[in-house]
Amino acid sequence: MHMHKLEKIWLILGISCLIIFLTTVGVSAFYMGNKPPSCLLTIDPEKVDQQKPFDKPGLHKVEGKEWDYELVYVAQAFSYNPAKVEIPLGAKVKVIATTKDVIHGFEVAGTNINMMLEPGYISEYTTTFDKEGEYLIVCNEYCGSGHHLMFSKIEVVKK
Ligand code: CUA
Repeated sequence: MHMHKLEKIWLILGISCLIIFLTTVGVSAFYMGNKPPSCLLTIDPEKVDQQKPFDKPGLHKVEGKEWDYELVYVAQAFSYNPAKVEIPLGAKVKVIATTKDVIHGFEVAGTNINMMLEPGYISEYTTTFDKEGEYLIVCNEYCGSGHHLMFSKIEVVKK
């Protein structure tokens, strides 16, 4: 079979890319132990209110950690608890969230925080709030008739 030179180069390039990609994914998953983030922490969705840290939703100052605050959210159809929170400007915050019923979204509009909250799993995201203003948290997973009414607010304020 005759193959054009450029066609051969193109094939070699394509196959090499595939091998590099699969090797990267393989080493990351099996050698370094990386997993999708939502698989790491589990919780009994029936007992969310009794379990730490979800027994006290809201913003909590923490000591001796890589972040300054922990911001705990409990989602359920069709609200987030807390409904509003104030964060000091420049604070490094670990957002910790879960849901008591169905799958909800957790998107902080205008930032790159965008998590899926699944019953039985804890979703986390650490970020620094370095821009003043009001941020809207919206549910971006369809969760029922009140889906469009589901929101919460974060206010980043200078202190
Ligand atoms: Cu919760 Cu849509």
